Amino acid sequence: MPIFSRLESLMDATYPITAFSNASSFIYHEIGDVNWVGFYFYDPMTDKLILGPFQGKPACVEIGRGKGVCGYAFEKASPVVVPDVSSFPGHIACDSDSRSEIVLPIKVKGNVVALLDIDSTSIGRFSAEDTETLEKLSLIIGKYSEKVYPFVFLRTIG
Ligand code: SME
Repeated sequence: MPIFSRLESLMDATYPITAFSNASSFIYHEIGDVNWVGFYFYDPMTDKLILGPFQGKPACVEIGRGKGVCGYAFEKASPVVVPDVSSFPGHIACDSDSRSEIVLPIKVKGNVVALLDIDSTSIGRFSAEDTETLEKLSLIIGKYSEKVYPFVFLRTIG
């Protein structure tokens, strides 16, 4: 089964925490040479990005608007590829082994509601082809997010 339909079936879950946990594990194991894969959810109440399900070392619990690569991708509302994190001013180092990073927005009705953040210990890990694949995976996650937004609800709505 291609990765897109495998992610779709994994995300066919009642509880958002289940779906996003499995999605982070799936991407972590599927794409290889990564040390962190996870989600940050936008909380409109605090105007911050809040750590969600992930694979990898413990990470920053919240990220302020415009901070780090995640904050930048949130503002830009499009994927951000950082081939070398040491040359990105304001990069937030959750795992000091991380060398490159990609952050993709997850959108519901055109609004960024979450971010998919992926780190690698290799410089220049994320190619244009990876970006394209991950964008397609993000669309699947966005489709699911539409059903469960706002994420504070523990069950899917409807
Ligand atoms: N590097 C991110 C912070 C999150 S960790 O990588 C998990 C950033 O600069 O926004």
